[in-house]
Amino acid sequence: MSVRSLFAPADEVLSQRYPFVVPALSYAVNAVEPAIDAQTMSIHHDRHHAAYVTSLNKALEAFPDLHPYTLGELLMGLRKWPAAVQVAIRNHGGGHANHALYWGLLAPGSAGAQTPSGVLAEMITRDFTTLTACTAALKAAGLAQFGSGWAWLVKTATSRLAVRGLPNQDSPLLNGELPIVGIDVWEHAYYLKYQNRRADYLDAVLARINWDVAGAQLKR
Ligand SMILES: [Fe+2]
Repeated sequence: MSVRSLFAPADEVLSQRYPFVVPALSYAVNAVEPAIDAQTMSIHHDRHHAAYVTSLNKALEAFPDLHPYTLGELLMGLRKWPAAVQVAIRNHGGGHANHALYWGLLAPGSAGAQTPSGVLAEMITRDFTTLTACTAALKAAGLAQFGSGWAWLVKTATSRLAVRGLPNQDSPLLNGELPIVGIDVWEHAYYLKYQNRRADYLDAVLARINWDVAGAQLKR
């Protein structure tokens, strides 16, 4: 599978090269309220996401041979890189890629498709029967994730849709699977508003997914 054909041109962050930069939110910090409150949005984006980028740049500073590679290439090729930098790429590179997708998947106001269309809709019908079953599986994966991690809807190597629960900032790209929807279930994503009510956070976010953005991931 060609990395270039996989990613171009949809996801600018996966096409970034060192030094990496945090993409600006495309909406106001209160635009996804009440699902995500403004304080959580700003801390999550401006501090947590920014910290992954700062740490990734710091780790790669001493590895100029890796500077020509895109973020997508660094994640997909993880086992090829020097052992000393693999953990940083996995954690901080994953954190950068995962959060960039997450911001795009959140629909501000009434913007964005409420339901999937086109190829993604057909794949959901084929692999889950209904969108409700698909989002229920995502919610279950988010609830079952012990500790920090993400619930993912991915396209597998055999072009099926599947739900995964992955720990920490592990990207599905590490396993050769394409991220379609990613729901952050780290406590920093929801604790200020929801405290221990992760299920309520999952319900709120799953109701605000911009399915146009999810569908666009298939075109990478
Ligand atoms: Fe996060």
